[in-house]
Amino acid sequence: MTGFPGRIHQGIPRFFHELERELDEGGRGYTPLCSGENKLLLASEADKEVFWAQNTWLTPFKLEFDSISEAARALRGIQRNWAPFLFTQYRRGALLQEKLPVLPNKPRAFPWKAPDIPMGSWTLLDAHTLIASPACTSPFPGGVIKFEENKTDPPSRAYLKLWEALSLAGTWPQKGDVCIDAGASPGGWTWALSELGASVLAIDRSPLEGSVRNRPGVSYLKHDAFTLKPQDLGKADWVFSDVICYPPRLCDWIEAWLASGLCGKFICTIKMQGLSDNESARRLAAIPGSRVVHLHHNKHELTWIKGL
Ligand SMILES: C[S@@+](CC[C@H](N)C(=O)[O-])C[C@H]1O[C@@H](n2cnc3c(N)ncnc32)[C@H](O)[C@@H]1O
Repeated sequence: MTGFPGRIHQGIPRFFHELERELDEGGRGYTPLCSGENKLLLASEADKEVFWAQNTWLTPFKLEFDSISEAARALRGIQRNWAPFLFTQYRRGALLQEKLPVLPNKPRAFPWKAPDIPMGSWTLLDAHTLIASPACTSPFPGGVIKFEENKTDPPSRAYLKLWEALSLAGTWPQKGDVCIDAGASPGGWTWALSELGASVLAIDRSPLEGSVRNRPGVSYLKHDAFTLKPQDLGKADWVFSDVICYPPRLCDWIEAWLASGLCGKFICTIKMQGLSDNESARRLAAIPGSRVVHLHHNKHELTWIKGL
């Protein structure tokens, strides 16, 4: 086993261009470990924060092995969970995977907390070379999490990214918690929060779907969320935003909330238009106790999570 210098970023097929652009910013650069549909990009360890990766392999090593059993023994000797990422050697990869503990891949019922045990990743460069990392940024295999969907009640599928953010955070609103949901229409997030028993103030210029509007604990304010000051809304346990807006506008609004001291827990989507505004993402990621991630259920957007 030998160290493999750097970090390996696993791309999200639809957003490879964003990952490549992000790694190129400031002339940082990267080396592709494979090409084609799948991408593994090797970059410097100094790039601590990479927003557009689906999963980053933090502690990669290389193992030259003779037999599949030998490779499997080496991985099992480190930890239980290992997610494959294959771009070549599919047959040998499948044989190796069979010799490793099975990973749970059933859709999860929410609420569900991501387990604390490490989820590693591995790939084969050729028939006798394995690259693996016991520590990865995502606790989900390959950064992918699936939920048991509710296809009848919520008016949009946007609730899935909220469930994912809360599962990652390992905590969620409790019965009676006061939640502000900015950019709430048609009501997927408000539905999910009220399902947890929270009291939700949904704010949007567009209406909430009637079935959500009438749920117990839900109130609706037709307004521009950003012209409301935190002091207009008062103390809240959680502030959520899925507002479509230019990222700097969201940053200003969040900074006003933080300065007010009226809320400590936030989950906000940073919506990108055209090429991503990574500067705003860095502005938010620099807020102590917070992080910016690209969730499996995010589209062309990032998610800022604070205080969880
Ligand atoms: C992606 S949708 C939100 C989806 C919602 N989270 C759900 O789960 O159904 C974005 C929303 O932001 C709203 N929006 C855009 N600008 C806004 C603003 N300044 N204030 C309040 N809402 C705004 C839009 O009307 C739209 O309903």
